[in-house]
Amino acid sequence: MCGIVGYVGMRSAQDVVIEGLRRLEYRGYDSAGIALVDHGTIASDKKSGKLANLEKAIEESPLPASTIGIGHTRWATHGAPTDRNAHPHLGREQRLALVHNGIIENFAEIRAELEAESHELLSETDTEVAAHLIERELDKGVDLTVAMQAACRQMEGAFTLVAVDSQDPDRVVAARRNSPLVVGLGEGENFLGSDVAAFIEHTREALELGQDQVVTITRDGVAVSTFDGEPAEGTRYHVDWDLSAAEKDGHDWFMRKEIFEQPRAVADSLLGRRDASGRLQLDEVRLSDEDLREIDKVIVIACGTSFYAGMVAKYAIEHWCRVPVEVELASEFRYRDPILTQRTLVVAISQSGETADTLQAIRHARSQGSKVLAICNTNGSTIPRESDAVIYTHAGPEIGVASTKGFLTQLVACYLLGLYFAQVKGTRFGDEINQIMDQLEEMPAHIDTVLSHADEVYAMAKEYLGTPSVLFLGRHAGYPVALEGALKLKELAYIHAEGFAAGELKHGPIALVDNGLPIWCIVPPRGRDQLHEKMVSGIQEVRARGARTICLAEEGDTAIEPYADVLIRLPKVPVLLQPLVATVPLQLFACELATLMGHDVDMPRNLAKSVTVE
Ligand code: M6R
Repeated sequence: MCGIVGYVGMRSAQDVVIEGLRRLEYRGYDSAGIALVDHGTIASDKKSGKLANLEKAIEESPLPASTIGIGHTRWATHGAPTDRNAHPHLGREQRLALVHNGIIENFAEIRAELEAESHELLSETDTEVAAHLIERELDKGVDLTVAMQAACRQMEGAFTLVAVDSQDPDRVVAARRNSPLVVGLGEGENFLGSDVAAFIEHTREALELGQDQVVTITRDGVAVSTFDGEPAEGTRYHVDWDLSAAEKDGHDWFMRKEIFEQPRAVADSLLGRRDASGRLQLDEVRLSDEDLREIDKVIVIACGTSFYAGMVAKYAIEHWCRVPVEVELASEFRYRDPILTQRTLVVAISQSGETADTLQAIRHARSQGSKVLAICNTNGSTIPRESDAVIYTHAGPEIGVASTKGFLTQLVACYLLGLYFAQVKGTRFGDEINQIMDQLEEMPAHIDTVLSHADEVYAMAKEYLGTPSVLFLGRHAGYPVALEGALKLKELAYIHAEGFAAGELKHGPIALVDNGLPIWCIVPPRGRDQLHEKMVSGIQEVRARGARTICLAEEGDTAIEPYADVLIRLPKVPVLLQPLVATVPLQLFACELATLMGHDVDMPRNLAKSVTVE
């Protein structure tokens, strides 16, 4: 989730681009870069780290004055956050400069094709491949708009691309597929940005682009086309947000924005995971198939929300791979002298990649000869650096302290790991794996459906304002969801909240149930295994003792209706994947209740986003 800016007009492009990048820095700050068109050449600079590093470099070695340019602030996906991998990337003849957000899924094939034509690629990024590809089209004698259209037809995945051509000082050309881009409409100047925060101080008139569109901005106009070169139209609108709301995409909190970003984040985390023949390919798993086949035990280590993702991983990996999985709190792991061998795979889950407890646990595991695979959202952070392999979750920066899209994309990474492991071990047939991948690819739409009912959840939060205690019940993969729902409420609303495995109720916790106690019940989908029926019995038991039941149950589940004081419908999905939809109303509830209580949702008391002390 990088930040992108483009400008053509009469002002200093450097000033407009740097200011735009400052507004977009919340989208990523692994590196920053700028490219300006200067009398037939590209003048550019880029630096790893925050924008301030780039500003310092430009101060020491000024760029020429120009009124047309592009800029980028990076959230690393392909390649470490280094100067070399920073954007902009230039084409082979350095005629074209390009910035990019997203993932080009078939970049390895395009790279091989370009290398066969003696293109020398200097970075590990998919972006540089795209820069060479577009410049190769320009070499055919077409203008940048046509070159961009032609290149886009060859690329798969999700991308926003913004380019300038040194031979054409009048136009900036951009394209988008499944990745954000808006046009800012000025007088004698026009802007491009990942979101309106990039240009809101210059204009509030904007144009939203459709899917698979190319846009050309000049000083006097904006032209939209399809990837096939047919004329197209964007949707014009007026922006009435203030700057801080613009950064949050109109939401009051980063957390709420991140909850609503989850369909996109889950889709991104699934991108590029299958090759042309449909087999799973996890490029970042640097463990050989032989190594993986030798594994006889998996231990998942993590903290907080990431630990709950690990609990779901246990259900999935054991079911698909028939390998025993233990899940451990990272902070407890090394103190109990765990049994670790070379045949143990330790999976460390961490959104930030910097959690001290998890880091110390993986160091211990590696010192005992076990292999460590990290599931992480933050490219280049310590935990993936110190691991043998990594699956990045591609959620984009998570700013709210309470993890939301981080969790859902961790779940996706756990499913991917389980399916990949099953593919390598041969414990599932290829068509079964493909069927589950197809179901996973439907999840962004299902999450969208759940989000469209946010108002119902908000109304309930209002009703429960003032409640001193809330319980959450789940079974199977719904149990970690119950724990996550309780954690969200503790973190944000500062009230007593506990999650239980529903079957455990009668072994003690049912004594807590009293008149009016709200209990969220995550009802498993109906299936062959009696899980659903047992959950319904548990719900009857708490209701008989005065609890108010708020049930999350799949569409068409009529058996639950008599026992639900409130019924929130979930899309029909398999039980193992249900956490991807069932968690969302719980996040919305905690966010809304905390907002109504007047709490700072993005920075709850006593908490830090990344816990770097043990
Ligand atoms: O960055 P990590 O995933 O390693 O962080 C682990 C926990 O500190 C984190 O999940 C914490 O529980 C969150 N605040 C939960 O919302």
